[in-house]
Amino acid sequence: MKNILSGIQPTGDLHLGNYFGAVQNWVRLQDAYECRFGVVDYHSMTMPYKAEQLRENTWKMAFYLLACGIKPENLFVQSLVPEHVELAWVLGCLTSYGELTRMTQFKDKSDQLRETDKESLVSAGLFLYPVLQAADILIYHADYVPVGKDQEQHLELSRNIAQRFNYQFGKEYFVHPEPLFTETPKILSPADPNKKMSKSLGEKHYINLFGDEDRVRKQIKSAVTDTGDTPSGEMSPGVKNLFELLRACNNLAAHDALMGDYQAGALKYSDLKEAVADTIVSLIHPLRERLAELNADKRNVKAQIQDSSVEIRKRAQQTMREVRELTGLLNLK
Ligand code: AMP
Ligand code: TRP
Repeated sequence: MKNILSGIQPTGDLHLGNYFGAVQNWVRLQDAYECRFGVVDYHSMTMPYKAEQLRENTWKMAFYLLACGIKPENLFVQSLVPEHVELAWVLGCLTSYGELTRMTQFKDKSDQLRETDKESLVSAGLFLYPVLQAADILIYHADYVPVGKDQEQHLELSRNIAQRFNYQFGKEYFVHPEPLFTETPKILSPADPNKKMSKSLGEKHYINLFGDEDRVRKQIKSAVTDTGDTPSGEMSPGVKNLFELLRACNNLAAHDALMGDYQAGALKYSDLKEAVADTIVSLIHPLRERLAELNADKRNVKAQIQDSSVEIRKRAQQTMREVRELTGLLNLK
């Protein structure tokens, strides 16, 4: 069976963009592939953070993923598999400084720190981030990596590193991982449909998957529909986004009926918004219930995540033993 690896940073909330762009796809892939999904907490140390907050967010994200339908045995916490970091060191020694300076995510994030007068916090860790990501993928010999388009460059780097390792050590050892992109287009911010839904823009710009249902209704109700700058005859980005949400939630009946109204010039935005709010609330309601069940059994659920991390770690340890052999390091007998 082909195998899959993906990761998500423990950033606090999970929003509809993350769900439709990533997590929903992961849940479906579990039926057809051997899957491993990591909450990548080492990655979250690359930007300024607080220790207690990181630990809390890591557990939170793991619980969210389980509530969404990720199977416990497929889930691990990256820092419980420290071999990722060991492999990142080995791979880092095969990666050129020049190619890391070309990574756009590094440029974006270091610019972000510079713009807020935090240049001194642009860390070597942030620079090495893509190498750690390559290690995440290669350590399990993953065939496919489901990610957003923004990760294309990192995936290409992972393939280059794999190729270089194989050439240098004379063996077709690492698989060349391929990205699996989702078909869902970027979900946009309800408050500013010229931008993508994202946590970094602030609270009104994302819809929390585990958020309060009244708040979700309010956010949809006040979603921007017409920005006034859409050429006549074209659908505005805000309206398009609302239709996209109906489609993403698989409410095709409402989508098609309302699209019929739109084409007939008879669409009432209030009807569209009501349909979207109802659809989203019925999507998130069972997820919230599932999360409440998991939270009621917190200790056991945490123990289960630790056990599955230990189990998944065995595969990573096997890879590291082989990598040590191939690269001239020592192994304990
Ligand atoms: P991030 O939190 O931005 O690192 O994203 C985590 C995952 O969610 C990645 O696979 C992204 O591609 C996906 N994602 C984030 N924001 C959106 C969005 N607005 N629409 C669709 N997918 C998204
Ligand atoms: N860099 C990814 C992101 O920002 C997260 C990530 C870390 C990842 N390691 C990974 C994704 C390995 C896929 C595979 O979304």
